[in-house]
Amino acid sequence: MIIKQFLSERLPLTEFSAHLRKPLPKHINLLFSLGSLAMFLLLLQAATGAFLALYYSPSPEHAHNAVTYISEEVPFGAFVRGLHHWGASAMVIIVFLHLLRVVLYGSYKAPRELTWIFGVLLLLVVLGFGFTGYLLPWDEKAYWATVVGVEIASTAPILGDFVAKVLRGGAEIGAVTLSRFYALHTIWLPWLAFGLVGVHLFFVRYYGSSGTPQNTPEEMKTGKPFYPDQVFEDVVGMLILFAVLASVALFLPVPLEDVADPTNADYDPRPEWYFLFLFQLLKYFQGPLEIIGTFVIPTVGMVLLLLLPFLDKSERVVLWKRPIALTVTSVCVVAIVGLTILGASSPKLETQEASQPTAETDSTVSPDTETEAVEEGEKVFDFQLTEEEIEGTEEGEEVFDFQLTEEELQ
Ligand code: HEM
Repeated sequence: MIIKQFLSERLPLTEFSAHLRKPLPKHINLLFSLGSLAMFLLLLQAATGAFLALYYSPSPEHAHNAVTYISEEVPFGAFVRGLHHWGASAMVIIVFLHLLRVVLYGSYKAPRELTWIFGVLLLLVVLGFGFTGYLLPWDEKAYWATVVGVEIASTAPILGDFVAKVLRGGAEIGAVTLSRFYALHTIWLPWLAFGLVGVHLFFVRYYGSSGTPQNTPEEMKTGKPFYPDQVFEDVVGMLILFAVLASVALFLPVPLEDVADPTNADYDPRPEWYFLFLFQLLKYFQGPLEIIGTFVIPTVGMVLLLLLPFLDKSERVVLWKRPIALTVTSVCVVAIVGLTILGASSPKLETQEASQPTAETDSTVSPDTETEAVEEGEKVFDFQLTEEEIEGTEEGEEVFDFQLTEEELQ
């Protein structure tokens, strides 16, 4: 009570509370909670990622060990890693459904074009999180999927080679690539994401919820209040989503393959499931036509998505009463889902081996990394001994990690 009085004498709490209690439009349904669920997942990813970062080490010599250690030794490590891993997939699904909800009700139409544009940018950031995070465990699938991904980026006209070089940090995927992906995943993208969410939510509050298209002007101001009704529904949705994710994290271990082997040209590379549709698309455009699958279709698709509010100026009615919009949306959704299914069940893509290093080294460290390390006399040896091995007594759980440089060994 005293605190409330203290605060209300100093802050416009009454106005703030009145603002929160303002009624929303009528007929707001559960689909309107998808944006809040996306927000919740972003925060959950930030929180679980912050814990994982306490143990993770972004170098080819340690990354795989660190992830094994998190999964097998750290208390609740497997659970937190599970939340982060499955949370990323949930994020892509929820953001995609949120986008479809906005399309369904034509909520991108004037005056909400900017809200939409910042939403599309957020979608790209979410996919960026997925792409950069995939490399971090430094196992076979991480390494080879990144090889394919960077190769796709390199096919873009003019800037392609430059972008691929910046991503790799050199001629091949190695230690610098891992550092870069880690920096992008934990610093650059989170800053960008929270900045974009801030602007997105500012626009959402500024224009107010668009409600459903059938609302009369009167019904736009006579629905339930944002606080407490809508907030309550959103929080219930978050708790259900968390319960589902926690169950999956408990019962479905996150896969971790063998440590990355850049010489293993027989490996069948697979990206994360939400990039499978792009991966599948490449197979229909081989040779000189490759660029259509790697660059033209994805870029044109993204530009059209960004410009959607300016291309579709029709009256705001629900999707099934807009035949053209309904057809375009259905074709896109069926194509994405269909290509994803085909991609998941299809055989190996033939082009990857070509650009990769051949059997020059049997080390798990990429050639450029190894050369650099040897040149600077900094080659690192990593031993892991369990308590048991050290004490020769009962079953030990703790792992001791020693690092000796070549110099120290000699
Ligand atoms: C991390 C990703 C995202 C977060 C955290 C987020 C968050 C939100 C929230 C909390 C709302 C208000 C509640 C609702 O209408 O569901 C909202 C509304 C909106 N979002 Fe998003 N969003 C994200 C991605 C997107 C994407 C990918 C798009 C579309 C390309 C988009 C377009 C919109 C639009 C147009 C609205 C206004 C809807 C209306 O007024 O009815 N958002 N977003």
